[in-house]
Amino acid sequence: MEEKNIPKHIAIIMDGNGRWAKERGKMRIFGHVNGYKRIYPIVKHCKDIGVKYVSLYAFSSENWSRPGLEVRGIMQILKNAIKQQIKKMGEEDLRFVVSGRVDELESTYKNLIDYATETTKNNKTITLNLCFNYGGRNEIIDATKKICEKVKCGEINIEDIDSALFSKNLYHPDIPDPELMIRTAGEMRISNYLLWEIAYSELYVTDIYWPDFTPEELDKAIESYSKRERRFGGLK
Ligand code: FPP
Repeated sequence: MEEKNIPKHIAIIMDGNGRWAKERGKMRIFGHVNGYKRIYPIVKHCKDIGVKYVSLYAFSSENWSRPGLEVRGIMQILKNAIKQQIKKMGEEDLRFVVSGRVDELESTYKNLIDYATETTKNNKTITLNLCFNYGGRNEIIDATKKICEKVKCGEINIEDIDSALFSKNLYHPDIPDPELMIRTAGEMRISNYLLWEIAYSELYVTDIYWPDFTPEELDKAIESYSKRERRFGGLK
């Protein structure tokens, strides 16, 4: 594939794990386990073609309403993933960060996230932003609270608040907005993902279920993106 115009930041809604498992007569967690197996090849491919940031929607603030068995299964995948992949993160020069309300997680998960974040903080080639216990509205609320605190203690004035300042109070202000947002499994919705950051992102939806999503499918998304004319509300 001729790869022009590679996005710096790609955000992915990894949907379709449940349907993938159901089609095989298996429990939903089987879909999540196989979905997890797609992460490394996709992130590695992103790194190889020069993408600098990948955001993955792994557990939303609404996913707590799923059956306990499924929630516990995803937590277990998170725990195993960090333990098993921490060495590889170093080898790939990958920085691991999490977006979401990490403080609400049980200490086992919170401690592992803190450990992986700290261990990989100086890695530079690619950043994996795992969105876990994440909600776009929560992120906006949390940013608003931080800004209110700064106004209250006199660090900034209300007149200073603009979109640049707002962005600086999101979970990871150093991560640029995604140019491309991919959703697998065909649904045409945003599902409370990166609501502030995707204001001008290009959207790409594929019917492929996440456990079947390959680097070739990612190339198709990037190819589609690279042909688009981005106007940001202006004219060309
Ligand atoms: C959506 O599919 C997927 C999720 C809610 C979880 C995504 C999780 C993984 C890929 C594995 C976890 C990875 C880590 C690193 C913790 P769905 O279950 O909503 O699918 P459906 O719409 O077909 O039911």
